[in-house]
Amino acid sequence: MRSHYCGHLNESLLGQDVELCGWVHRRRDHGGVIFVDLRDREGLVQVVFDPENPETFMTAERVRSEYVLRIKGTVRHRPAGTENPNMATGQVEIACQALEILNRAEPPPFSVVDAISDESDVNEETRLRYRYIDLRRPQMLQRLRMRAHVTRTLRGFLDAQGFLDVETPILTKSTPEGARDYLVPSRTHPGEFFALPQSPQLFKQLLMMGGLDRYYQIVRCFRDEDLRADRQPEFTQIDIETSFMDEDQIMSLKEDMLRELFSEVLEVALPKPFPRMTYAEAMMRFGVDKPDLRIPLELVDIGDLMKNVDFKVFSGAANDPKGRVAALRLPGGSSLSRKEIDDYTQFVAIYGAKGLAYIKVNDRAAGREGLQSPILKFIPDDVVEAILARTGAENNDLIFFGADKATVVNESLGALRIKLGHDRGLVEREWRPLWVVDFPMFEWDEKGNRWSALHHPFTAPTVNDIEQLEANPGAALSRAYDMVLNGTEAGGGSIRIHRPEMQAAVFRILGIGDEEARDKFGFLLDALTYGCPPHGGIAFGLDRLVMLMSGAQSIRDVMAFPKTQTAACPLTSAPSPVGDTHLRELGIRLRATTTAT
Ligand code: AMO
Ligand code: AMP
Repeated sequence: MRSHYCGHLNESLLGQDVELCGWVHRRRDHGGVIFVDLRDREGLVQVVFDPENPETFMTAERVRSEYVLRIKGTVRHRPAGTENPNMATGQVEIACQALEILNRAEPPPFSVVDAISDESDVNEETRLRYRYIDLRRPQMLQRLRMRAHVTRTLRGFLDAQGFLDVETPILTKSTPEGARDYLVPSRTHPGEFFALPQSPQLFKQLLMMGGLDRYYQIVRCFRDEDLRADRQPEFTQIDIETSFMDEDQIMSLKEDMLRELFSEVLEVALPKPFPRMTYAEAMMRFGVDKPDLRIPLELVDIGDLMKNVDFKVFSGAANDPKGRVAALRLPGGSSLSRKEIDDYTQFVAIYGAKGLAYIKVNDRAAGREGLQSPILKFIPDDVVEAILARTGAENNDLIFFGADKATVVNESLGALRIKLGHDRGLVEREWRPLWVVDFPMFEWDEKGNRWSALHHPFTAPTVNDIEQLEANPGAALSRAYDMVLNGTEAGGGSIRIHRPEMQAAVFRILGIGDEEARDKFGFLLDALTYGCPPHGGIAFGLDRLVMLMSGAQSIRDVMAFPKTQTAACPLTSAPSPVGDTHLRELGIRLRATTTAT
């Protein structure tokens, strides 16, 4: 129906007759002449309707925003002085000879034109309900285009490296990745359920056992968990597994992949190699296992200095083996107002912090006189001096303090560090990838009173000795690695357990009894006994990568049809009730709503 895309027209086509199809982006009546900016996937072009051609002119008078048109016309130069340098096609316009209205449009619920400047103008629920209109906005199109570029580039890289793209089942058995499963009832096995995969973890391991050697898949994963800006109930992984490679080789290969990706899509050169940091160091310096290295603020441990101070909150945490006392220096922070400090105190309270002590360093040379702080009275001179020295305090700085269980201090000061970075304009405009390594194998789950896996239960420990592992699970490190990009966990993986005895031992430590292990993972335990190669892999969050690369604020903005924060789809109204017959077929009896559960 067309000869060209609107957005491709330029001066090289002057004088040519073209046929275009597209949407009415804007229509303007200019005293006798009608201008329509016609839009298609590739951009906009100005179409001019002259009254000298009364038939097209009269039709043009009827067109409205978002009508779908087909036009025939001639490319001509815009009159001198009316060129639009902000428009790719701004040097030319189309003198229209024929116009056909292919379809009319109701006035859109939000303007495709106005919303371009600021997404926050339009309620997201409305954008999702009318996603097909939202997708017409150039930013959205641009992001989906980038996403396609990203997947194309990744496929190219992995293909060239000998990875085979293999599909794995969607209707399957639960894979523990730490979230709740989405379940699908089986009609042919009443009362039984499939689980949608939280990841293809076990299948990719089975593929290694099947001798596939190098596998990848761009694959949908499903997790029923609390949603955030970077979490969706269904999302896409670039899932990878290899045999006979150790963690250094896998990390190096994945770095190459990301370097090629960033260079190809963004023309950005990422560092070579990516820096690495242990989990322990990340927690110590940044309070999180995914530090944003663009923010030049760090937590400093001062527990040893606080053991004997006259302030119970601090000395208590300093003497508690699970406690932590840490300082966070904010350069130039002495200008913070009382109100701002109160606001930050409320902010850290979200993470369980019971307060936010601080010292303002007005004049270091003036000793105590030069400092301002609600806790100064509790702290002896030599300790104050040691804190200033250790944090590297200079005049006009402010030092925040956290004292509590280490988890609370890490979470609260870690989050405060990021907030201060953004509030104070300290975030470098750079790409800062980082490998985090040497994760603990297990963490103690206070509520459940048992060990849980920090990654997943198939991750290999650094020790090979089962007795040693079982003797002190808390001390064991895993052969896992996370790829962190600008403070977001972009990917994670590990070397896997390939010996059945070790897998059984890890299940035992996790409190998964033999019977339960057989029931849930019998197929894996069996497979491990039939010649399993050493293997390992990684999965990247595709949505997160594209979100970071495109500068979007949420992964919803890089998905064509995402779900809301409450895991619903406003466009199709899913999830929705189903009829009794259908339920009966599936062997599901609805309990009366009055029945106590
Ligand atoms: P993991 O659970 O770390 O590892 O997931 C890998 C990556 O997937 C992304 N991701 C998500 N993205 C959007 N929404 C979500 N709800 C979500 N959950 C995770 C993250 C994360 O880094 N099978 C292992 C990988 C392996 O060991 O090879 C796994 O799934 O970017
Ligand atoms: P208070 O004596 O409770 O008024 O506290 C004195 C100062 O210590 C205040 O600035 C509090 O915000 C701060 N503070 C109290 N508890 C903690 C804590 N657990 N960590 C850091 N600062 C705290």
